[in-house]
Amino acid sequence: MTAAARVPWVVGVSGASGTPYAAAVLRGLLAAALPVDLVVSRAARLTLLDETGIAWHDDAESLRAFLAVRLDADAELDTATEFDAGQHAVLDDVRFWSAADLAAGPSSGSYQTRGMVVVPASTAAVAGIAIGLSKDLLQRAADVTLKERRPLVVVPREMPLTAATLRHLVSLAEAGAAVLPASPAFYSKPKNMQQLVDFVAGKILDALGVAHDLFTRWDGRLGSG
Ligand SMILES: Cc1cc2nc3c(=O)[nH]c(=O)nc-3n(C[C@H](O)[C@H](O)[C@H](O)COP(=O)(O)O)c2cc1C
Repeated sequence: MTAAARVPWVVGVSGASGTPYAAAVLRGLLAAALPVDLVVSRAARLTLLDETGIAWHDDAESLRAFLAVRLDADAELDTATEFDAGQHAVLDDVRFWSAADLAAGPSSGSYQTRGMVVVPASTAAVAGIAIGLSKDLLQRAADVTLKERRPLVVVPREMPLTAATLRHLVSLAEAGAAVLPASPAFYSKPKNMQQLVDFVAGKILDALGVAHDLFTRWDGRLGSG
């Protein structure tokens, strides 16, 4: 009997601000016992270093530090709380691909994936995916996701937006991608910075069809909660 095929979500982290969003999405996917193929762009190494202090290498040690990233009420980095020890086993189900590796699995449509999320998405990544540039593995994997008609979720983080970026976002939506700007809401009454992050991460997981309890859902009653 053959073993069941491993079919991962591809998570692409590009060089926009917002690496805590990616950490929260990764936690959500791993908590749901879903395998992940992770691609961190060259520029994302800079934002990761700047925002989390992590000198990223495509390895388990970097990932463990990344999964511990949370923000307290003052937006201070709080890595005191380790990723739930009970979930450490699922770390084995994260596969790292170098962004420079255009021969990597997710570069081909014949490599099976559930789809892909680009979080956060730089305007450069948005542009590259919109025009099919495939300048690195992150962009190529996103292009493959579109051509194979698999779910692609793109989470842009920039403001203000140029007309060019707005056009690229329309192109992505027309190509079938879900565009989810990293814009937290306040109706869930966030009490700290992490709850703002988790709102966006929860909306991303909703778009991927992954169950989570990252925020309190609107219940139709103004002023409740
Ligand atoms: C600290 C830092 C923060 C950045 N923040 C953003 C951002 O919020 N949005 C964005 O579109 N680009 C941002 N950039 C610029 C991108 O990193 C740059 O356009 C890069 O070429 C993106 O490459 P990538 O899409 O391959 O990751 C930032 C760069 C640095 C160094």
